[in-house]
Amino acid sequence: MEEIHKIKSLNDYLDTYQNTSLGNDFTYDYFTKLTDQFPYLKAHRDFIEFNKLGFGERAFHSMWKMLLDHLLNQFAKPQILEIGVYKGQIISLWALIAKERNAVIEITAITPLEGNYKPKNRIITSILSKISKKFRSNLDSGNFYEKGDYLSTIKSVFEKFDLDIETIRFIKGYSSDTNILEQVENKKFHAIYVDGDHTFEGVTKDIIHFSRLIHKDGLLIMDDSACNIPSTKFWKGHQSVSDACEIIENLGFENILNVGHNRMFRKL
Ligand SMILES: C[S@@+](CC[C@H](N)C(=O)[O-])C[C@H]1O[C@@H](n2cnc3c(N)ncnc32)[C@H](O)[C@@H]1O
Repeated sequence: MEEIHKIKSLNDYLDTYQNTSLGNDFTYDYFTKLTDQFPYLKAHRDFIEFNKLGFGERAFHSMWKMLLDHLLNQFAKPQILEIGVYKGQIISLWALIAKERNAVIEITAITPLEGNYKPKNRIITSILSKISKKFRSNLDSGNFYEKGDYLSTIKSVFEKFDLDIETIRFIKGYSSDTNILEQVENKKFHAIYVDGDHTFEGVTKDIIHFSRLIHKDGLLIMDDSACNIPSTKFWKGHQSVSDACEIIENLGFENILNVGHNRMFRKL
C-alpha cells in the first residue's frame, strides 16, 4: 500500500530540511506524493496536466498549500503576486486553496495574456538566431508561447473549479514595462512567484524590481531555478534563471527550501 504522507507546517518541514542532494530528492518525492493526498489538489493538477494548461511539477501543488497555510496562519488576508500566469494554473490553485480553507487571499497577476510566438519558418528562425541576441536568449530559455485567447482559457479553469475570477487583479503586460511597475510600486506582498521572462536579463530585472516589494519574512519563489543546487531526481530548470538567482541572497534573503526546480527565499 502507498505510504501516507502527512502535511507539516512550513516551519516544521524546515526544521529537518537540508539543501543537499539527498534532502532535495527526498523533498521532491515528499511533495509529489503529498499532492495526491488532497483530493482537490489532485483533481486540479490532473485537470491541468490532462488539458496541458500549465508547466511545472505535481510537487508544486502541495508546496503551495504548505506555503499558503503558513501565510494564512499569520495574516487575515495575505497578498500574493504571480509574474507570468500563462493559462492560470497557479492563480487558480491559490484561489482554490483559499476557498477550501474559507479564507481570503488577495491575488495580483502580471502577465501579457497573449503569446509571443516563434516564427514557424526554420530559415527565419535561424537568421534571427544569428542576428539577434535577444531572439537567441528567448530561444535558449524557452521564452516563446503560442497564440491564443489566454484570458478565456483562464476563465474556463476558474469556472471548472467554481472560483471567482473577479477576485483576481490582473495587470496586463510585461513585468519589465515602466507602466506595469508603476502600478505596483507602492504595494507590498507576502509572497511573490516569479515565472515570467526566463532570460538572464529578464529574471535579473524581476528579482531587483520585485524583491523590494516583499514584506520582511515574506517569500520569493523562483521557478525553473535549480540548476546550481544539488539533486538527482528532477528537471532543474534553466541555467539563465538559475544564474540570475545567485544575487538573491545578497539582496537580503535566505534560501529556505527547494522543491524540485522551485526555490523559496525568505526576506530577512
Ligand atoms: C512558464 S509560463 C508561466 C507558467 C505558469 N506560471 C504556470 O505555472 O502554469 C511564462 C508566462 O510568462 C509570460 N511572460 C513572459 N515574460 C513576462 C514578463 N516579463 N512579465 C510577465 N509575464 C511574462 C509568458 O507570456 C507566459 O505566459
